[in-house]
Amino acid sequence: MSKLDVLVLAGDGIGPEVTVEGLKVLQAACKAGGIALALEHGDFGGASIDKHGEPITGAMLDRARQADGVLLGACGGPKWDKLATDKRPEKGLLGLRAHMEVFANLRPARLFAALAGASPLKPERSSSGGVGFDFVVVRELVGGLYFGSPRFIEGSPGNRRGANTMTYTENEIRRIGRVAFETARKRRKKLTSVDKANVLEVMALWREVMTSLAPEYPDVALDHLYVDNCAMQLILRPTDFDVLVTENMFGDILSDLAAAATGSIGLLPSAAVGERNALYEPVHGSAPDIAGQGKANPLASILTIAMLLEHTARRSDLAGAVNAAVEAVLAAGLRTADLARPGETAVGTVAMGDAVLREVQKRLA
Ligand code: IPM
Ligand code: MG
Repeated sequence: MSKLDVLVLAGDGIGPEVTVEGLKVLQAACKAGGIALALEHGDFGGASIDKHGEPITGAMLDRARQADGVLLGACGGPKWDKLATDKRPEKGLLGLRAHMEVFANLRPARLFAALAGASPLKPERSSSGGVGFDFVVVRELVGGLYFGSPRFIEGSPGNRRGANTMTYTENEIRRIGRVAFETARKRRKKLTSVDKANVLEVMALWREVMTSLAPEYPDVALDHLYVDNCAMQLILRPTDFDVLVTENMFGDILSDLAAAATGSIGLLPSAAVGERNALYEPVHGSAPDIAGQGKANPLASILTIAMLLEHTARRSDLAGAVNAAVEAVLAAGLRTADLARPGETAVGTVAMGDAVLREVQKRLA
């Protein structure tokens, strides 16, 4: 029997309640698949600030590097919003990503057939030949504008100046580029590199290095878009995209756009991978307005579990069963509040999780 050691950092807001549903599915899949699952829970985000005075402790960072995979819920909330940038829950997330060196963040966005009506995009744009858009944003996660230095606010009140820096080395661009080309190779073999090479030197370098990788992947068609144009094209012709690769902050923005196009941000999973470590997080935030009410959509957490089964457990069979189970409950008409249209009844977090669990068990029996 193979082993899987997962550190769970459920965090704040709706994080804990959606993570419970993801874990139910993970446990069932591991049981059916003959995997001995070891789960450990740790403090993270605002919850860790309240307990330990910092969003993640040094010991927890080290523990995260030893786990086979780390599963995140969500982090942040109004309670900690007044803290300085470097003390906030979000800083814990950025520290975790950096410490684990998970430089490649895969954010798949696809339109489920059953949800075509929930997308804000017109059907003639969101689908082509009856098939909804299906692309992956590969976001660079430990460099770029989020991490560059210098970074500061300086000067006297009334006359202050703030700065952040977008910086990449050729090596950093090459390693994220390779992950993107490899991802495209396993899909429809189209890669769009997204930059702002017309204005920013760092992005001109990005384009040059991406272009220089192309001969190594002759089977993949590479093209380039400026990020502003890309935002527009994703809305106008989302079905044309397969894999996109981009800078940290650009990827943050484009992945929220992609999420909204699927019908709800409560549907998007993500996997952040590096040479040794992997961090799995739903793309949605902590949604403090609905936290603790049992209304949150657990599907992003459950789809994130599918990514963990795929990338860390290397069990496409189990991942496939989880994805198919989610598709089945949506096809059967189950909707959480974020997905329900006027007149449709919404189910709660636990009911949605249970429904997926039953479908998973049916498929793996
Ligand atoms: C995301 C989030 C985070 C980010 C926040 C919570 C720091 O928006 O994962 O997309 O900006 O990376
Ligand atoms: Mg974001």
